[in-house]
Amino acid sequence: MKVSVIGAGTMGVGIAQIAATNGYEVCLFDAFDGAIKNAQQQLTNILNRLVEKEKITETKKIEILARINFSKDLKDIKGSGLVIEAIIEDLKIKQKLFSDIEKLVDENCIIASNTSSLSIASIGSACKKAERVIGIHFFNPAPLMPLVEIIPAVQTTEETLKNAKAMIDSWGKVTVVVKDTPGFIVNRVARPFYGESLRIYEEGIADFATIDWALKEIGGFKMGPFELMDYIGNDINYTVTETVFTSFYFDQRYKPSFTQKRMMEAGFLGRKSGRGYYDYSLENLPKANEDRELGKKILWRVLSMLINEAADALFLKIASREAIDLAMTKGVNYPKGLLAWADEIGINNVLKQLEDLQKEYGEDRYRPSPLLKNMVKENKTFY
Ligand SMILES: NC(=O)c1ccc[n+]([C@@H]2O[C@H](COP(=O)([O-])OP(=O)(O)OC[C@H]3O[C@@H](n4cnc5c(N)ncnc54)[C@H](O)[C@@H]3O)[C@@H](O)[C@H]2O)c1
Repeated sequence: MKVSVIGAGTMGVGIAQIAATNGYEVCLFDAFDGAIKNAQQQLTNILNRLVEKEKITETKKIEILARINFSKDLKDIKGSGLVIEAIIEDLKIKQKLFSDIEKLVDENCIIASNTSSLSIASIGSACKKAERVIGIHFFNPAPLMPLVEIIPAVQTTEETLKNAKAMIDSWGKVTVVVKDTPGFIVNRVARPFYGESLRIYEEGIADFATIDWALKEIGGFKMGPFELMDYIGNDINYTVTETVFTSFYFDQRYKPSFTQKRMMEAGFLGRKSGRGYYDYSLENLPKANEDRELGKKILWRVLSMLINEAADALFLKIASREAIDLAMTKGVNYPKGLLAWADEIGINNVLKQLEDLQKEYGEDRYRPSPLLKNMVKENKTFY
């Protein structure tokens, strides 16, 4: 079967690499000459590195490259069984593209979008046969991150879902099925990791280094929130938060932070600009205040908010319990699934922390999910 990838940028190149590595004939299309040349160069470099590291053989590298047709002519996608779109995040442009794709492929071809923030229903609405449109959301870098969120829209048929999922499973990815709602699982449930950490900083409870230390050292997270925001880029991370916030009709739980907005406005984007929460031109980064009592307080507050998000996503049937836990461990490397973690520390303790915060601040931001309240009442656990 032939797989086409539209948009040869960061995500498109990675997705094309995965499909070709799994033996598929691939058409990697981009509307711009420069992008095609870059993609070809980038993919060759990546595969060369894999050969150097002895992850693949030279022969395998040549085979993978030979399977990919780098194209500037959209007609080359004809005959595809699956098309994955990974172009610029713009609804109008995506809709026009989906309508063009539909005219070239046959009836049974699945047309998928890798969008992070647009609704699959709105993209699918551009197609006459929207029942074969679905979201297939990879994480960056696509060849390395195991998680893929599969997002059926209201128009998508069960058959499309089944076939799309089976295909991505066969590529060795961990798939989770999620409702077509803002942020899907990962970009929704992870918001407090950044937002609550920023709030703790804004209240003067601790500095960036101390908050990062607490989450890593006591919480077991691979990276602290400020390190991670600097790595992702404050522009990108802020935009995701703002999009989730507006998409949820300004639910206070997702309210963006002025601290991060000012960082972005100042051009302190993180590692890519040399400075974010940390100044990477300095030889030594600031040291944390390694006060374990303070660290535990910080971790508790962020973790309770994360668990609240995960519980609320389950409450609203966004995805299954297993999918929500898998998404956070396989998509963003959390040390444990949040619902399993809640069982471990006691749901009553999580609820108490949220109720205390809500009482103290009087903000809707801290409202506990009804699911947590019901579970405590009924003395239930997630697993
Ligand atoms: N970068 C990430 O971390 C990430 C993660 C998951 C999902 N996504 C989503 O994947 C999509 C692509 O993101 P990206 O980071 O790879 O972007 P990118 O800017 O790196 O690449 C986009 C590519 O699309 C091409 N393009 C733009 N308009 C086009 C058109 N009309 N027809 C054909 N090609 C066109 C551009 O030339 C470019 O090569 C977006 O929807 C984004 O939300 C991104």
